[in-house]
Amino acid sequence: MRPTVFVTRPIIQGPLDRLAAVAEVQVHEGDELLGPDELRARVAGIDALFCHLTDRIDDALLEAAGPQLRIVANYAVGYNNIDLEACRRRGVAATNTPGVLTESTADIAFALLLATARRLVEGDRMVRAGQFDGWGPQMLLGHEIAGKTLGIIGCGRIGQAMARRARGFGMSLLYTQRRPLDGDLGRELGLSYVDLDTLLAQSDFISLHCPLTPETHHLLGRAQLARLKPEAILINTARGPVVDEKVLVEFLQGKRLAGAGFDVYEEEPRLAPGLAELDNVVLLPHIGSATFETRRRMGEMVVDNILAALQGLRPPNAL
Ligand code: GLV
Ligand code: GLV
Repeated sequence: MRPTVFVTRPIIQGPLDRLAAVAEVQVHEGDELLGPDELRARVAGIDALFCHLTDRIDDALLEAAGPQLRIVANYAVGYNNIDLEACRRRGVAATNTPGVLTESTADIAFALLLATARRLVEGDRMVRAGQFDGWGPQMLLGHEIAGKTLGIIGCGRIGQAMARRARGFGMSLLYTQRRPLDGDLGRELGLSYVDLDTLLAQSDFISLHCPLTPETHHLLGRAQLARLKPEAILINTARGPVVDEKVLVEFLQGKRLAGAGFDVYEEEPRLAPGLAELDNVVLLPHIGSATFETRRRMGEMVVDNILAALQGLRPPNAL
């Protein structure tokens, strides 16, 4: 009997064809998310789950799927939506999509940095509103990028890709994470390793590239945000709960930092009260990996992981 794969949301065309050659592929069509109850009902009896960061993969879901389930393959590099411990206990492989979305996500982080510093969205709104009545010597003054310091929190693949972009724009680079980068990599990228407090106090721009774990939940809370320079700009393309969004809104309202650029939110897709009313923020709808090329590569990677698991092999991106 052909194995069954359930795909929780429709994806870009192409990658699923290889799966369909060997498995019964069921796709939840439609834009609305499956709630936990519906998801549990849909996974009963499947062999592989192709899931998204919007799906909560917990013990109850694995239980509902049944003991034949081999793999939960996440269409994302982040996997905070998956209870890895429960997967291990039940002998279910869990996989993510590292490496293939590095450049697209760093592009969005740098785009947010530029957009926030140079007030691109405010400018666009002004022109569309018919309020542009000619060049102005003090119109929409922003912050220069060249010569400024970027602090990178979490310097894995995406953080390093951000560093390469920032170097090209003439920025100085600080980074922090649990351990310094190995060997000459930090030197090659022009990165200096510092502790979090130093990074927060010395950076003009701060960009988050760490995973969401119990250790990084509210890594930037009140005490940490209070260390930022008033002219600092914070960029988050990682995961919302790394920042205490309510405190951030309070600080932005009080001009205790200059601006913020967000692609992710603490209670996604809901925004903290007040965030959307601020002029000095640029808000994107979680599109870090949203290019045709990256989404196709992510799909191929998820499919490779599922095909391996269905053959009883260790999936290449096992967590
Ligand atoms: C997107 O947020 C991802 O983790 O891939
Ligand atoms: C814009 O983001 C500003 O702080 O001026």
